[in-house]
Amino acid sequence: MAKFIDLTVTAIEPTTADAVVVSLMPTDGSVLSFVQGQYLTFKHMIDGAEVRRSYSICSPVGGQAVQVGIKRVDGGAFSNWANAELKIGDTLQALSPMGHFHTPLSPEQSRAYVGFAIGSGITPLLSIIRTTLETETRSTFSLVYANRSIQTIMFKEELEDLKNKYMNRLNVVHILKTGQEDIEFFSGRLDRPKLQDLFTKWLHVPNFDTAFICGPQEAMTTIANTLQEFGMDQNNIKYELFGTPNARPKPAVQTQAKTTDVALKVVIDGVSRDLSGGSDMSVLDAALAAGIEAPYACKAGVCSTCRCKVTDGHVEMRVNHALEDYEVAAGYVLSCQAYPKTASVSVEYDE
Ligand SMILES: Cc1cc2nc3c(=O)[nH]c(=O)nc-3n(C[C@H](O)[C@H](O)[C@H](O)COP(=O)(O)OP(=O)(O)OC[C@H]3O[C@@H](n4cnc5c(N)ncnc54)[C@H](O)[C@@H]3O)c2cc1C
Ligand code: FES
Repeated sequence: MAKFIDLTVTAIEPTTADAVVVSLMPTDGSVLSFVQGQYLTFKHMIDGAEVRRSYSICSPVGGQAVQVGIKRVDGGAFSNWANAELKIGDTLQALSPMGHFHTPLSPEQSRAYVGFAIGSGITPLLSIIRTTLETETRSTFSLVYANRSIQTIMFKEELEDLKNKYMNRLNVVHILKTGQEDIEFFSGRLDRPKLQDLFTKWLHVPNFDTAFICGPQEAMTTIANTLQEFGMDQNNIKYELFGTPNARPKPAVQTQAKTTDVALKVVIDGVSRDLSGGSDMSVLDAALAAGIEAPYACKAGVCSTCRCKVTDGHVEMRVNHALEDYEVAAGYVLSCQAYPKTASVSVEYDE
């Protein structure tokens, strides 16, 4: 089970005018272990309200400090606070690293990976690229990285350094919305015609074993569909979604629909608790209402922090932007989106 840990901020550096890279180390002096592509969920009080937000780790596996890149979102609570007020020496509380945006690495493997990052979607990919090329010395990585303009490219220098280090194994294609009109191929939006052009002239899709995509939902769907159009099996495409438009949960709407009582069993940290819920209440909300410290962040079906396994009974998952088909088939649900459909439901957070 994920627990909140204290992390001390050891460095803060701008990577663009509206994004910072924050370096963190466990306050107790231990080393934080994680897998490339995972994220941290921070908890912080802002203007008297608890805010929880997830940020992907951009540093490679094996380093001393972990780093996250936080891009300012217009009017956004946490991202503006982190860019303007967070200081070296501050302590941030975070759940231990989570997420499944990765594939197993092995020094014996020789694979061809392709990644697609839109804007701040570069953060998990940077960790994946750094860790993969270091671990698998015969594998290659091609990155397609889309940004508004050259000024908004996060980790531009780090990518240049990586290209120099792995000259024959890393290929980076920058697509800029503005500022590169003289080279039509690399300018504009990463839409279907652009991808078709790329896949015809630059990247031969059947050569790739795995694709990683991170960005806004609409762009991710277009990229995944076009990859499949060019021959990639959907099982070889991994996704990480940072948010959907207006992804923050809205206050519950009271309806007249008849609700039924539900007997809920929640296993967390090896302890089993029986509580009562209702068919109109998510499993997560029922657990939180009973004082159980169940993990969550977005409460909108995006981040998967609240993942648990249904071991008895049935639930309906209303939104799922985070779990893959095989996880759902194995009984995993997003508890913030899971509404009981049977009179009794048992879930486990520890699996
Ligand atoms: C698994 C995961 C990993 C993530 N990794 C990163 C990362 O590495 N770097 C990073 O900068 N962000 C990352 N995010 C997004 C991040 O968690 C926050 O959603 C984002 O920083 C906005 O939070 P906020 O508190 O500033 O804005 P809020 O106060 O939550 O929202 C303000 C407004 O912005 C809109 N909004 C919320 N999120 C986004 C978004 N992602 N893009 C555009 N508009 C948005 C909301 O709809 C709202 O209108 C990640 C999200 C997830 C789920
Ligand atoms: S809390 Fe983010 S998916 Fe449930």
